[in-house]
Amino acid sequence: MTQSPFARTPLAAGAAFADRRAELARLVETWTAPGSALVLYGPRRMGKSALLHEAARRVHRRKRPAVIVDLATAVDAPDAVRRLLVAVRSAVGHTWQSLIQAVAHRMHLSLTLSPSPDGTALPGLSFGIDPATASRATLFVDALAAVDHELGRRKLHLALGLDEFQRLLAWGGDDVEWALKSVLERHGRIAWVLAGSATTLIEDMVTNKDRALWKLAEHLRLGPVPAEEFAAWITARSAEAHQRIRLETAREIVRLAGPRTRDVIALAHATWRNTRLNRGVADAASSFDDLVRETSAPYEQSWQQLTQREQRILRLLASRPAVALSSERVRHDHSLGAASSVTVALAGLRKKGILCEADRTPAFDDPFFRRWVELGTADDLGPASVS
Ligand SMILES: Nc1ncnc2c1ncn2[C@@H]1O[C@H](COP(=O)(O)OP(=O)(O)O)[C@@H](O)[C@H]1O
Ligand SMILES: [Mg+2]
Repeated sequence: MTQSPFARTPLAAGAAFADRRAELARLVETWTAPGSALVLYGPRRMGKSALLHEAARRVHRRKRPAVIVDLATAVDAPDAVRRLLVAVRSAVGHTWQSLIQAVAHRMHLSLTLSPSPDGTALPGLSFGIDPATASRATLFVDALAAVDHELGRRKLHLALGLDEFQRLLAWGGDDVEWALKSVLERHGRIAWVLAGSATTLIEDMVTNKDRALWKLAEHLRLGPVPAEEFAAWITARSAEAHQRIRLETAREIVRLAGPRTRDVIALAHATWRNTRLNRGVADAASSFDDLVRETSAPYEQSWQQLTQREQRILRLLASRPAVALSSERVRHDHSLGAASSVTVALAGLRKKGILCEADRTPAFDDPFFRRWVELGTADDLGPASVS
């Protein structure tokens, strides 16, 4: 059986990667101009990480080293430093050993190289780090500065992507932000792309003149892939996989799934599969509901962890997205309690990532979860509107 052309992969690449021509060009341009810096931000699932990796591949094709360090999955700053140095090693070629040793020396890290079992791969790298060094707020940024310095001594350049870079602040606070500024300001050997999903925080970092990154880096807010291009791409890609999704259906997929790239791909996948099962016909709306039913387990789980007030608010928002939760009438009719309690519940739902972080009016982050709530899958909790 032909594989779905929209199969869920961690990061779409090559032909599976849709559009983003302008954004790719912007990243490649930044990364091929040493010393330049771009902050890429936008909501989760929009496609920032996939874009970083696709752009890095293009930079590689120009025979320039590009590496991405993912801070989202680093447990702490020392772990992030280790990832940075492993990534840098893979990028700088034959001089890596002296460079990594020099960085380790500058950082007061003890470095151990252990040969790979079959002798062909690069040796393993492990670093010893004493507690005083490990707890330094600016540890990771110091490592960046040391790498930059050593690159300079060797007249090398590096394109570096830091994914979910705002985690640096969580590890080290304000000091990190200002230390980062001084590393970026230097006439560096590194070209930077700093990416992150914490839209409100990052927007403030780059547009507020009291913050370190103001005027220091260009910024690019990643929005949705343009609807018409995305629909045409879905149709073309499905046809290549021998099961064409009609253009009208593809448009419906894009409309129903909303702005996030991953949601569109997920719905395209479900529709492609149904089209195949139903001899060439399937509609986006019923595929959407199939997908909601298939993913109900995690939804059930997060639903159970909510307070009753949070559940009532979500029920209401699922069926009436424009409802005025601050209205006394609405709060009374739906047993939501005092306005201040509703405010607290909304803040909680945003913090949990169930409502969008950045939007002023409350809205579901995940369109499939919204539908799950609307369908009232959690029947044990009574009817959708408590009146
Ligand atoms: N341009 C694209 N074309 C096809 N799939 C994409 C595209 N951008 C992202 N995706 C897919 O969407 C999902 C989320 O993308 P990701 O880059 O992880 O988002 P973010 O980093 O913004 O949270 C991934 O599975 C990825 O493969
Ligand atoms: Mg990401």
